[in-house]
Amino acid sequence: MAYPINRMRRLRRSETLRRMTREVSVSVDDLIYPLFVTSGLDVKLQVPSMPGVFHFSIDALIKEAEELVEFGIPAVLLFGLPPNKDEAGSGAYADDGIVQRAVRALKKNVPDLVVITDVCLCEYTSHGHCGIVRGDEVLNDETLELIARTALSHAQAGADIVAPSDMMDGRVLAIRDILDDNSYVDTAIMAYSAKFASAFYGPFREAAECAPQFGDRSTYQMDPPNRREALREIELDIEEGADIVMVKPALSYLDIISDAKASFDLPVAAYSVSGEYSMVKAAAERGFIDERRIVNEMLVSIKRAGADMIITYSARDFAGWQSES
Ligand code: PBG
Repeated sequence: MAYPINRMRRLRRSETLRRMTREVSVSVDDLIYPLFVTSGLDVKLQVPSMPGVFHFSIDALIKEAEELVEFGIPAVLLFGLPPNKDEAGSGAYADDGIVQRAVRALKKNVPDLVVITDVCLCEYTSHGHCGIVRGDEVLNDETLELIARTALSHAQAGADIVAPSDMMDGRVLAIRDILDDNSYVDTAIMAYSAKFASAFYGPFREAAECAPQFGDRSTYQMDPPNRREALREIELDIEEGADIVMVKPALSYLDIISDAKASFDLPVAAYSVSGEYSMVKAAAERGFIDERRIVNEMLVSIKRAGADMIITYSARDFAGWQSES
């Protein structure tokens, strides 16, 4: 039975009716805020391609984290900028590495904030790849041990959740094994399961100083057209012991998020990446779009697709807008 019996506009007539019939909403509780930590004192340096995103020294990071807690943001995802890089990315798994020190400081000063660490080598290797390189190849099995050691050192520093983003095969299992062998049975793993080789990471590579010095990441990250393969990647990570699975990027991959939600029962995270953020900031600065409305719409679409949590550089802005209204 259709028009005129059915009139879809009936329930859109007022804001209150719309509020009652809204199917999803985004809350600060859903958000995870990425943070970049660097050495030095009192450093807060803006990333040129990402207005509003900064490199923080540990002391400045603590101040920032205290504000995030006041805003109600539950978790941060930490990336490190080491003072030196080498072939083996040794700064990634050093006990006194930049992330390890930052995690200790965060857990000491802001204990309620959930600290998630990005586990990868690319910010720490001189060649900028996410694993050990021989010739022009990124070696899988040789990399696993270093990824696992990195995760363990983050857990020892106090990380609540470790998040491998390297896309080597078998890394979730390697991490679960080393954590359990060392009694870190309660440290959770958020796996970057369906991580695509994406041009949307461009601004991040400037932010994290981790652009590959030769070639690209297409031999380990996923090929953007592949939807069924993403489900296999996710399934394998679940079998290996992932507690949370992630789809990345978010906006161009809503179908993958939706599939993941429909197919599996564990929490699904989506990473709205640097390029998504920078495009919005750039267009907003030129007056082409309304940033606040665009960000709200982006986040709600990611949630509607099925994400239980969203990693976004807009988390702080969003929390600020929520507290205003
Ligand atoms: C490191 C890593 C990347 C991102 C998160 N972890 C970059 C890459 O894979 O090149 C991208 C995050 C973003 O663009 O916001 N492996």
